[in-house]
Amino acid sequence: MNAILSNDAFSRIDESDDEAFYARERFVSHLDSTALATIEGIIGTLIEDENPVILDLMASWDSHIPPGLSRARVVGLGLNASELRENTALSEHVIHDLNKEPSLPFADSTFDAVLCTVSADYLTHPIEVFREVGRVLKREGLFLVIFSNRMFSTKAVKVWREASEGERLLLVEDFFTESGAFEKPRTFISKGKPRPCDDKYAPLGIPSDPVYAVYALKSGATRSLPVMPEPSEAVDMPPKEAIERRKKAVKDTLACPYCGHKLSKWEISQTLFTEWPNEFFFVCLNDECPYFVFGWDTMARQNNHCSYRLMYDPLTDCCQPIPVLNHTMLKDGVVQES
Ligand SMILES: C[S@@+](CC[C@H](N)C(=O)[O-])C[C@H]1O[C@@H](n2cnc3c(N)ncnc32)[C@H](O)[C@@H]1O
Repeated sequence: MNAILSNDAFSRIDESDDEAFYARERFVSHLDSTALATIEGIIGTLIEDENPVILDLMASWDSHIPPGLSRARVVGLGLNASELRENTALSEHVIHDLNKEPSLPFADSTFDAVLCTVSADYLTHPIEVFREVGRVLKREGLFLVIFSNRMFSTKAVKVWREASEGERLLLVEDFFTESGAFEKPRTFISKGKPRPCDDKYAPLGIPSDPVYAVYALKSGATRSLPVMPEPSEAVDMPPKEAIERRKKAVKDTLACPYCGHKLSKWEISQTLFTEWPNEFFFVCLNDECPYFVFGWDTMARQNNHCSYRLMYDPLTDCCQPIPVLNHTMLKDGVVQES
């Protein structure tokens, strides 16, 4: 592996039998609805085959396959029979503990696509399982691993628990590479989208759950993969010329060049900015502003867990980014609402 791992990297706080741990039904959504819609979008974009045969590895009651994606057969492999029976996407299911037996109970070249959603963190023999996925995929088959930042921490392996979100991407890329069964893996990140208003965590001001995808074609595949939309496209970034034109006009419009929202007058916190000569800036506090939404993704690529908002300095007549660690930061300094 590229990463140097300790001997206990794949140990868990709870080493009890997985089947016993997952015996209790959990008909819950593991992520907020925006993140789940993103996952459906990724699956719908990357699975292009007509009527594919799909394996949902570590499946539960929802496979996140878009309803419009026609499929020949979907097999779910997991540990809880009631959850798998309730999964309407599945045509059949099998109970199989991958930590006891990493070999998959399927013939070579059975599937067009294998999905593993919010579950790779629980694999104690990930490289063996990834190699097996390569074996059961057809020649041009796709393996798509999707995860976020939530987990059953007692059942997640140590290396996953202790890794940052960016390091987890590298770890999953390593699983692909070390298995020797895949072409070069690619990644996709979606971070910082506004949390749905009706979500129970929305009042905390935290963004939608991040979604990370690592995916690759089986080794030797010759087709090219569909292009995932750039996150900037996904957040509707206006054209560069329009942004520059609007930046020049901010003095008169006091509107955000990226989203058009009125800027809020914001009193400079002297504890944060002791050196600024002015008392006020103007800041875009629109949580759906593409500049702010795309900022999470840009910063995540540099392994920073923050974003930035558009700030206009009336003294210098300049627009610049002001970093923020969460959706609520800066909001209590507003002295005049937009
Ligand atoms: C967080 S849930 C995710 C379920 C589903 N993939 C989804 O997207 O909602 C983790 C799943 O991994 C499965 N799982 C955990 N340990 C497993 C193991 N050792 N072998 C097979 N499946 C396992 C459990 O049955 C559980 O449904």
